[in-house]
Amino acid sequence: MTLSIVILAAGKGKRMYSDLPKVLHCLAGKSLLEHVFDTASSLPYREIHVVYGHGGEQVKEQLAELDVNWVLQDQQLGTAHAVQQALPLVPDKDDVLILYGDVPLITDETLSSLVQAAQESGFALLTAYLEDPRGYGRIIRDELDNIKQIVEEKDCNDEQRRICEINSGLMVVKGSLLKKWIVAVENSNQQNEYYLTDIVELAVFEDVEVKSVLADSSIEIQGINNRSQLAEAERYYQLIQAHHLMQRGVGLLDPARFDLRGNLEVGTDSVFDINVIIEGRVKIGNNVQIGSNCYIKDSIIADNVTIHPNTHIDSAVIGSGCRIGPFARLRPDTTLNNDVHIGNFVEIKKADIGKETKVNHLSYVGDSHVGSKSNIGAGVITCNYDGANKHLTTIGDNVFVGSDVQLIAPVNVKSGSTIAAGTTISKDVSENALAITRIEQREIQNWKRPKKK
Ligand code: UD1
Ligand code: CA
Repeated sequence: MTLSIVILAAGKGKRMYSDLPKVLHCLAGKSLLEHVFDTASSLPYREIHVVYGHGGEQVKEQLAELDVNWVLQDQQLGTAHAVQQALPLVPDKDDVLILYGDVPLITDETLSSLVQAAQESGFALLTAYLEDPRGYGRIIRDELDNIKQIVEEKDCNDEQRRICEINSGLMVVKGSLLKKWIVAVENSNQQNEYYLTDIVELAVFEDVEVKSVLADSSIEIQGINNRSQLAEAERYYQLIQAHHLMQRGVGLLDPARFDLRGNLEVGTDSVFDINVIIEGRVKIGNNVQIGSNCYIKDSIIADNVTIHPNTHIDSAVIGSGCRIGPFARLRPDTTLNNDVHIGNFVEIKKADIGKETKVNHLSYVGDSHVGSKSNIGAGVITCNYDGANKHLTTIGDNVFVGSDVQLIAPVNVKSGSTIAAGTTISKDVSENALAITRIEQREIQNWKRPKKK
């Protein structure tokens, strides 16, 4: 058996009230469609077809790197019509798995069971029992419990409307059967749409048994139609990720206040305080303490690092034993070697800071190389930008830069030197020298302050 997968994603998603096509909305930092793609592609398959809609070019453009075959459904005439667009590319002997681009939480286990269930008769549906089945197609069974029909809510009579077993919309059908039935589907219903669900009656008519698999949870088959459902799915997904991490030894003070939008690798005994957001690819070592309200993106953090609250880290590499924050900002291409201290209101960009160096208060260090065991005082600024170009500041080992110093790049401050507080450095400083630019202090005796008129 070989599997062809068709993901339906042509619907407009009107209820999102958004210019962004619905399947491009993000769940945990990844588009809904990519979630479905990633789950689908964990099964052994021949090809994945994505049916996208008119105006959905944006979907194709943004997800161009996905290894799928894009199929245009020019007009949205219903789910059967959507599937039909992909069928010319599907071999008769394949099983066809039909997924929805806006049902992102479906699991590979459930899909495997569904594929398995379809092996005998060539047709299996994924269903669920819902306390509140409103909005879904209802599964109609006969006295022997065999499925004989799916009725859309809008076409239900009162008795049918009370049925709680619903159609998730996801199914597996043998290619040859699907092709034969789909051309027979008509649109004489409340919505004048070609309903894929009508193939159930055609199967029953031909004595093909319609198998069913029950979804593990209702959230798994929940379609995202509006922003409330998107937020609900997000919270559910985040909790699952949080528990996975905790089961592997990561400490989360409150799993409900931890967000992972990407991939996180963490060693043991690392602990996250509340409201930490991790984005992209982040690797964190052992015994790392992360304070509340930190944002960390695409970074690598070694062992025994402490990150105090409200710190923002993007594309940085942090050596072991570093202490960062609170309120620090590490921008792209920052490298902190071991045991560096970065304090409050310090911004570091495209800079390499040597081991045991301290930048503890209110400084900007950009486009710089700083050696080891140096001390950068409060309010030090590397003036790296002349309005047109960026220039490099180099600071050696064991340099003491006093407070409120401006370093006008390009400039090279050599090892062992001292820069007096308040100095503006515009020339290189030689090894072990003291550099000072400071006008002499003078006094005017008995100074009268101006009076308010
Ligand atoms: C469909 C099912 C219903 C099921 C429900 C589960 C039919 C007729 N009904 O109803 O039994 O309970 O899903 O959520 O199949 N799409 C296209 N092109 C179209 C129409 C839809 O690509 O012309 C896509 C949508 O983007 C969406 C999926 O198909 O991903 C389902 O379409 P939607 O309109 O949401 O179907 P429902 O009316 O909810
Ligand atoms: Ca829907």
